[in-house]
Amino acid sequence: MAYSCTSLLLLSFLILYGSLPLSQSNQFCDAGVGYTESTCGFSSTSSSKLLIKGGTVVNAHNQEVADVYVEDGIIVAVRPNIKQVDEDVTLLDATGKYVMPGGIDPHTHLAMEFMGTETIDDFFSGQAAALAGGTTMHIDFVIPVSGSLVAGFEAYKKKAKKSCMNYGFHMAITKWDESVSREMEIMVKEKGINSFKFFMAYKGSLMISDELLLQGLKRCKSLGALAMVHAENGDAVFEGQNRMIDLGITGPEGHALSRPPVLEGEATSRAIRLAKFVNTPLYVVHVMSIDAMEEISKARKSGQKVVGEAVVSGLVLNDSGLWNPDFITAAKYVMSPPIREAGHDKALQAALSTGVLQLVGTDHCTFNSTQKAFGIDDFRKIPNGVNGIEERMHLVWDTMVESGQISVTDFVRITSTECARIFNIYPRKGAILVGSDADIIIFNPNSSFEISARTHHSRTDTNVYDGRKGKGKVEVTIVGGRVAWQDNELKVAPGSGKYIELPPFSYLFDGIDKADAKYLSSLQAPVKRFSAS
Ligand code: URP
Ligand code: ZN
Ligand code: ZN
Repeated sequence: MAYSCTSLLLLSFLILYGSLPLSQSNQFCDAGVGYTESTCGFSSTSSSKLLIKGGTVVNAHNQEVADVYVEDGIIVAVRPNIKQVDEDVTLLDATGKYVMPGGIDPHTHLAMEFMGTETIDDFFSGQAAALAGGTTMHIDFVIPVSGSLVAGFEAYKKKAKKSCMNYGFHMAITKWDESVSREMEIMVKEKGINSFKFFMAYKGSLMISDELLLQGLKRCKSLGALAMVHAENGDAVFEGQNRMIDLGITGPEGHALSRPPVLEGEATSRAIRLAKFVNTPLYVVHVMSIDAMEEISKARKSGQKVVGEAVVSGLVLNDSGLWNPDFITAAKYVMSPPIREAGHDKALQAALSTGVLQLVGTDHCTFNSTQKAFGIDDFRKIPNGVNGIEERMHLVWDTMVESGQISVTDFVRITSTECARIFNIYPRKGAILVGSDADIIIFNPNSSFEISARTHHSRTDTNVYDGRKGKGKVEVTIVGGRVAWQDNELKVAPGSGKYIELPPFSYLFDGIDKADAKYLSSLQAPVKRFSAS
């Protein structure tokens, strides 16, 4: 793990924030040139000029050899042979390398209170890890406070004060009444949130009923917000868990056995059908099984607007780790829906390469070994979640591009562009175009990566991808026109991150009103009847 740190001021800021124990306080920051003392973040006034020379610029729609010139956080030119005119331009040589949009992770949980504890990565450590892995923006899930969306939003605003990159928010809906419905409007119209997540699992905590889901889908539609679902049948999962405990299966393998793919398939199908009934777009998060993927495939073929999100753990892991005789090793793989038997991983890769699934997230939700040990005697108490925010770009490259399943332009689409389009911030994000934000990575396809819990930047002490090696390496990460990762070193500061508002009515809503009008005109009802004389 390589960091540099030179400022006592920044150090005291971190300690003041109470986020880092003293022993960790010097791990992430470089308060050298370019940081203002007042915020310990990037200076908002100083100009920054970058010239990236000689790389192959890759967008989702094409690739070309070109230089990229950046000023004050914005891409101002993309063309061959840009000359360095000013002395204060920082030059980056990308010859033989790819210059791509920074990754956007659509699914993370930083500083999330969950299952009686809180994720070990907060908005600083999680984002620092992301930047080291080439991700420059993520969208995190706000959890309401006592059902209140406004209170939840305020709480997450506070948590995110220590951010060092771009972030946006989704909002979970955990109960239903008039005030939730009103607050959804406030979130969309005033707070920059354009998606709401409904948990069909986690009975007794986050789980919602079909009745609530229906109300939520209708409200999402009227606001132009995207409805998202965690699709597992929570009642059946509860039954499955009791079944395992009755059988004396209390270890991490009981987690997978208690919630088989059929329960994910059922809930996915149910959510898709309810979204069809309401005629509103649906986003299915963390698709982990063939069962769920096939439901999405069927719906998409029929013309329904359903987005399927793959996550790295589902693409590259199988459930064998859950049977490891060492509890901590096995418990680190516990997430929901569970990591499936071998075969599901390959099928999900194929679905991603053929467009059945459209993008890749991580569901980064980290708990350390001490936290995972809460469930030493009962798998139901193991906090659910795995890491991935730092590893996603490398693993997707190695698994999908190096294996020949997708092209380099596809890589950009599934790790960045499609997410920007779905959440309505393209081409500001997800593109290397004139006028886009300068969130850029320089990727060396001829280098290699190796993942290790000893060297990763997450605060957790385990890594579900520990020991994985592969081809390709993010050598430079630029966020908002500033170099945040170079020469295996992070140059980040808390407070320098930017909240990105996500506007409603993305392209997924195009044609929804026309389909509604067509439906209404097709009804041939009410039928005018003669009253009996
Ligand atoms: O196990 C998981 N996925 N933890 C995070 C919460 C969720 O369901 O997304
Ligand atoms: Zn979930
Ligand atoms: Zn999640």
